[in-house]
Amino acid sequence: MIIGEERPFTGLILFKSITVFVLNYLILLGIMLLMVFFNDPAGYSQYLADNLFMLFFTAGCLFLLCWIVYLYYFFDKRNFLTEMKNIWLVFCILDVSIIVCSLCGSYISVYARPAAMLALLTLFLVGYRDAIFLNVVFSVAMFVLDVFVDYQTYVATGMTNEMFSAFMISFIGGMFAVFVGNSAKTRGHVLGTGFVISIPTAVIILLLKVTDYNNLDGWNLLQSAGFGLGGSVFSAILALAFLPVFEGLFSVLTVFRLRELTSPDAKLLKRLKAEAAGTFNHSMTVAQLVESCASALGENVELARAAAYYHDVGKLRQPDFFTENQTDHNLHDELTPELSADIIRSHTKDGYDLITAYRLPRFFAEVALEHHGTMPIKYFYAKALRMSDGEINIENYSYQGPKPKSKIAAIVMIADACEAATRSLTDRTPEKVEKAVRSIIQERMDLEQFSRCEITMSELNVIKETMVSALTGLYHHRIKYPDVRFTRGGVEDKGGKADG
Ligand SMILES: [Fe+2]
Ligand SMILES: [Fe+2]
Repeated sequence: MIIGEERPFTGLILFKSITVFVLNYLILLGIMLLMVFFNDPAGYSQYLADNLFMLFFTAGCLFLLCWIVYLYYFFDKRNFLTEMKNIWLVFCILDVSIIVCSLCGSYISVYARPAAMLALLTLFLVGYRDAIFLNVVFSVAMFVLDVFVDYQTYVATGMTNEMFSAFMISFIGGMFAVFVGNSAKTRGHVLGTGFVISIPTAVIILLLKVTDYNNLDGWNLLQSAGFGLGGSVFSAILALAFLPVFEGLFSVLTVFRLRELTSPDAKLLKRLKAEAAGTFNHSMTVAQLVESCASALGENVELARAAAYYHDVGKLRQPDFFTENQTDHNLHDELTPELSADIIRSHTKDGYDLITAYRLPRFFAEVALEHHGTMPIKYFYAKALRMSDGEINIENYSYQGPKPKSKIAAIVMIADACEAATRSLTDRTPEKVEKAVRSIIQERMDLEQFSRCEITMSELNVIKETMVSALTGLYHHRIKYPDVRFTRGGVEDKGGKADG
């Protein structure tokens, strides 16, 4: 998925985005010529000279298709066009898919084409709607290219069974891939998607072959259906092979990468668990709360949860100075409040540096840096006030920001504070939890912590309600069981006592 902040669509961006589209259109034309070469390496120049009019017609069709893609993003997702690498990503997926499908068509069979590869790659790297739209564009583009590359046959016999099948396989197989693959959360699920889409693909091939009943040949029928099955599974295998390449080249975070980064084997999380167990547990709880809120707001749940896992990794530098990792001895007792505040507030910057050093996604680093905004560290500020008789500069006792830039960072900020506040509550009835959550959100609003992110009042309200219900669920009031002990002599009743 593409993570991008809202940027103004200036005249310069309009010019740059159109230029990148034109460049990519020219690359597509190059691929078209390459396809003609693959089809007939010996006579390709003669072929082009003989079909010059068709060459211009195909080039015009491809131009219109590119223009339609531009208009889709311009009217539907303009922010997408503000990052040139997004445009390159879409065209790279398109180019790779066209080349692989053409090679398969030329050297194996049109039925064996991994036609759903584009749909799967776009789904995981760009988005759901983009995958549906680009699959249509890809199917039409492949059809236009197929007709051009094999124009002599088209002139002689009209549209062949293969051409029609190839179009239907791309379109239907791709659509199935988007719908089925959308729920895939592991690489194994993607492979499963390949098997699922092989069914409609084989049905299309069989139906089209049966309609040509005059030339029906059992072996050919089976072979074509087999190619169709293979092509579908091959789509999933190739998508899995290309995913890490695109993830790395375009720094895109897919659901699979996010899962890997939140698995118990993730390097930095392993270190957090070993060196700061308290912070690790706190981060897991915060992640649960963030997940519920992100889901309620329609934000990316996997991304939000992963960012929450890493929000406090900066505490690894000096874990023993943070309450959740302390046992009986408080190291702050030996320090001045100013020095204590300095150690505490440095964990945001340390987290940013550590996440960057581990080459983890930039978004995680930003959330770590922003999750306390410019909030004061009340405990040490109050301690300093008690110890001094003059004025205290609150800035020396506040986090240095910046304030949250994304909704996810704002959710992490609220969840982080709510988790700590609820943990210290002795009475965790829904009313008390609601009061604590409300006051945390209100305090942050009063201190303008959400001024950099586009979060609305109603969204803050949704966060509050979700947070209260998640926290009361998490620290639910244990029911009282009678303290009964079974002994050899019978049952011993010690009266009612809270369950531990
Ligand atoms: Fe923190
Ligand atoms: Fe935290």
